[in-house]
Amino acid sequence: MASPDRSTRTGRAGSTRRQFLLGGAVAGVGAAAAIGADKALRQPDPVVTPAPPHGTGTVPFHGVHQAGIATPAQAHATFLGLDLRDDVDRDALRRLMRIVSDDAARLTRGEPALADSEPELAVSPARLTVTFAFGPRFVARASGVAPGWLRPLPEFTIDRLLPELSDGDLLVQVAADDPLTVAHATRMLLKDTRSFTTVRWVQQGFRRAYGTERPGTTMRNLFGQVDGTVNPEPGTTDFDQVVWSTDGWLAGGTSVVLRRIAMHLDTWDELDRSGREQSVGRYLSNGAPLTGSREHDEPDFEATTSLGFPVIAEFSHVRRARGDDPTQRIFRRAYSYDDAPTGAEVSDSGLIFVSFQADVDRQFTPLQQRLADLDLLNEWTTPVGSSVFAVPPGCAEGGFVGETLLT
Ligand code: HEM
Repeated sequence: MASPDRSTRTGRAGSTRRQFLLGGAVAGVGAAAAIGADKALRQPDPVVTPAPPHGTGTVPFHGVHQAGIATPAQAHATFLGLDLRDDVDRDALRRLMRIVSDDAARLTRGEPALADSEPELAVSPARLTVTFAFGPRFVARASGVAPGWLRPLPEFTIDRLLPELSDGDLLVQVAADDPLTVAHATRMLLKDTRSFTTVRWVQQGFRRAYGTERPGTTMRNLFGQVDGTVNPEPGTTDFDQVVWSTDGWLAGGTSVVLRRIAMHLDTWDELDRSGREQSVGRYLSNGAPLTGSREHDEPDFEATTSLGFPVIAEFSHVRRARGDDPTQRIFRRAYSYDDAPTGAEVSDSGLIFVSFQADVDRQFTPLQQRLADLDLLNEWTTPVGSSVFAVPPGCAEGGFVGETLLT
């Protein structure tokens, strides 16, 4: 069987070139040209160093903020909602967070966890990040002062929440550009946590596979919409103000709202393209607002049709999501899910809506309330899970996530 390696391919190309040039010489090509070509033939092929596989990419675990928030979203994510066992007290919480921080730091460096049963799976971190966040009961057990917003969101009329997909004491977000890396890291962390916690829920999400699109391309959700265009830009003061808390043990941390929102693709299928675009206020082709032509064009909410109706309808998702108060903003970092159908619908698909903001009550809740009151998209979406967690700041090497609360 022919070997498919590079040297074979190069050798074949070389001999073809040689045959061509020799033929040319016989056919009477000038001698000088033939000598020049012959010299060229003797030049070694340039050495092409293959790019390192992208699985070697790492994101530092340690830092002022936890990784996995400002980090450009990886292709795959698993979210674990864990409940504390009854006997876990403040000392045990400290031990737990030391153990998981230590293993998360190792795994994100591409090193095996301390007691790694499959160390070979740890060598490709693929930009792995592990982010921890605390529910109300975690902070209470730690005898900490909980921020006022750390509680379940108020009930919205659109909600059909399932307790088994909501709340939780400890959230672990494991994200990487490779699903095997995510699975391995998740299992290692669950082995660390099992004597302290039980699993309440697991949600697995995805975006495009790494390399499918140029880095920085806004994701598309399963409705086919460009989703994530208007979002604070990590690395800017705007992002810092929207996301990072400055309060007490949470300074340098933030809050996360995680909502599992079913997207009813079967009924969405019945809507024509223009109806789909009206419901959001943006074009499906490139995500441009209905008053513009490019994705990042500013929507003109004042523009009207010849009949005097707003071009971007009052009931459209973007009109409702864009408040008049610029402090009511959030940073969205969502993933899609696509599970086995259980009922009559062809699919059980949706969005793992994930948003980070310094203060849930001030920034998230008024926005969600507006969308619950009116948003055409509600016709095809149903929130089925909801949790709120406090995301502690990051830690330095040798420290652990949660130390500002637990020490
Ligand atoms: C399955 C549910 C949802 C879908 C399919 C969806 C889809 C979209 C789409 C396509 C856009 C326009 C492009 C963009 O700027 O990202 C958008 C914008 C936005 N969405 Fe959603 N969304 C959903 C749920 C939510 C929820 C629950 C919230 C917050 C409570 C939210 C907040 C926003 C915000 C703040 C914007 C930007 C608005 C602006 O232009 O200022 N979305 N969403």
